Amino acid sequence: MNNAALIGPSMTAFFASLSRRAFLSLSLRATVGSVLASVLAPLRSAFAGSKPSPKFFRRIVTKDNRTSALIEWQTDAALSDPRFFWREAGSKSEKTADVDVTYFAIDDHPVFVYRAELSKLAAGKRIECRVEAAGRTAGTFSFRTDDGGAVQALIFPDSQCEGDYDTWARVSDEAATRCPNAALWVNMGDLVDNGASFSHWNGWQSTTDASLGGRAFAPVMGNHECYSLEWECCRPDAFLSLFATPDNESAKYQRYYYSFDYGPVHFIVLNTQWEELAALAPGLFEEQAAWLARDMKSTKARWRVALLHRDLIDYDEEPMIRDPFVETLVPVLESNGVDAVLTAHAHAYRRRRLSAWKPAKDGVPYILTGNAGNCFYDVEKNEIDEIAFPDNFLNYLTMEADETKLTFRCFLPNGILKDFVTLRKLPE
Ligand SMILES: [Fe+2]
Ligand SMILES: [Fe+2]
Repeated sequence: MNNAALIGPSMTAFFASLSRRAFLSLSLRATVGSVLASVLAPLRSAFAGSKPSPKFFRRIVTKDNRTSALIEWQTDAALSDPRFFWREAGSKSEKTADVDVTYFAIDDHPVFVYRAELSKLAAGKRIECRVEAAGRTAGTFSFRTDDGGAVQALIFPDSQCEGDYDTWARVSDEAATRCPNAALWVNMGDLVDNGASFSHWNGWQSTTDASLGGRAFAPVMGNHECYSLEWECCRPDAFLSLFATPDNESAKYQRYYYSFDYGPVHFIVLNTQWEELAALAPGLFEEQAAWLARDMKSTKARWRVALLHRDLIDYDEEPMIRDPFVETLVPVLESNGVDAVLTAHAHAYRRRRLSAWKPAKDGVPYILTGNAGNCFYDVEKNEIDEIAFPDNFLNYLTMEADETKLTFRCFLPNGILKDFVTLRKLPE
């Protein structure tokens, strides 16, 4: 994102407490000159309009979704004195949470992202939230905390679209309507076609907002989040600024990879953008590899599911080969007891069960999750594929997990079931 400017965390809480006039005045005098020089032009237009309305409320996954929640929302211009209130449904007394605000620009468009972190929540409870600006309620949002038991998730393959996001809207709306109780929503990467384009992010967010609702959102970074407007490789600044994913213990690469628990499942979200980021983010993949082994060894969750954007197979090579980067992750995942691996990137649905790369009836399910956008590729069937659907296929997945079963199902947008796989474990 060439024109982006980020204001660091230490500044954001400070800005959150400023009035609109004070903020603008400070901006003109601030010593963070290089940052503010690039934000002043969009800021002027951001403050020029009428009262901004909070939009795109979302609940980003946290490490423990039973007891904590991170709520984000956005505006195009600064909210005056934003405050966050919440309560358990049925309770008469509201509590408050601090509001952090981060300003940045996507493609010269101002974006203000607000965040409120809630902790010490009770598991399995409905939480009602309210945002005030200038002393008046400006938006509401509600969600239910994870109860740690059985869970259903919606899992979407690449949603990137050329032109408008109508195809993605149709797939995600249909899925959300059919699965009203799905508590978790996963996008497998390439949410947008161009990660530096405001029109793409606005198209994706506008069409996702209502269907996502209060579900916990887990974004996986894809390669298309790492392209500039000129289609050069770049740091995924918009993705990183929009989604505050859980702490991964990294000093330099927060939000590039992470893990979290939902219900009986430990999810491991890995960064596979080796081609795009190896030079731009030195050390990222070495530290991720060390973290992955630590993370998998430390979890006591019943199931372990890995989410990778790139697939096992690099279909761009002729003849196609194993993706050399993903190949390095497979032994670590399998030797640490991964139960299932989901991938994306090829815009095709394939299911394999493999053990050390060989088809095996009791092997790990590796599911290439398909396509939820309007970009279709020619993808050859590979010898490892047990199931391969046509390339013009649109689909979504569900995951259902409890103490003894883990099931993935593949649906057409109209709800027709096309494929499923169930894993079982004996009760503990
Ligand atoms: Fe893609
Ligand atoms: Fe991709």
